[in-house]
Parts: sequence; structure tokens; C-alpha cells
Amino acid sequence: MSAPAQRACALTDVPEEGSIRVELAGKPVCIARSGDEVFAILDVCSHADVALSEGDVEDGAIECWLHGSRFDLRSGKPTALPAIRPVPVFPVTVEGDDVLVQMES
Ligand code: FES
Repeated sequence: MSAPAQRACALTDVPEEGSIRVELAGKPVCIARSGDEVFAILDVCSHADVALSEGDVEDGAIECWLHGSRFDLRSGKPTALPAIRPVPVFPVTVEGDDVLVQMES
């Protein structure tokens, strides 16, 4: 049985083509909006320990502000160096103005 999804924030809290940092299940999570979609990705770059939520969101990807690695927000896979390891992503549902994140399955 999967754990219930947790409310992360209001949809209106998240800027379009932008992101915010929240804490869920004791972990920092970056909630990002790109186009009509909302994503949740661990808010820690896999290259060094900095917050991805402080980077830029564009076309379904987030760019780390420190060295420019880009991560696909759907898969967490890096699409630009120097990062080579993926960042965990979490399933998101939007109900009304609530952004819900499934932290564990
Ligand atoms: S810390 Fe993110 S790319 Fe280096």
C-alpha cells in the first residue's frame, strides 16, 4: 500500500516557469512549474550540495545555478554536465489549488 500524498503547497505559490523549496518527510523538495505541468524533485543538485530550487526552470528542465547542470524534471536525469547522476523525482498530482506529492511508494 502506498503512503498518502502530502500537500506540498498551493499551486499559486509556485511561479510559472519557476520553483520553490518545501520540506516533505524531512527532505528538501523543489516544486517546479513548467508549462501546464508541476514537478517535484529533490532539492539537492547531484553535483554538489546546493538547492536546485534557486536555479532557472525552462522547457521541463531545471538548471543548477552553481555550475549549470540541467536536469529533466520528469526523470531527474541530467541533460547537461557537469552532473552525471540523476536526482530523485516524486509523483505530483494537483487537486484544485493543492499540489500533492507522493514521497514514498
Ligand atoms: S552544484 Fe549543481 S552543477 Fe555543480
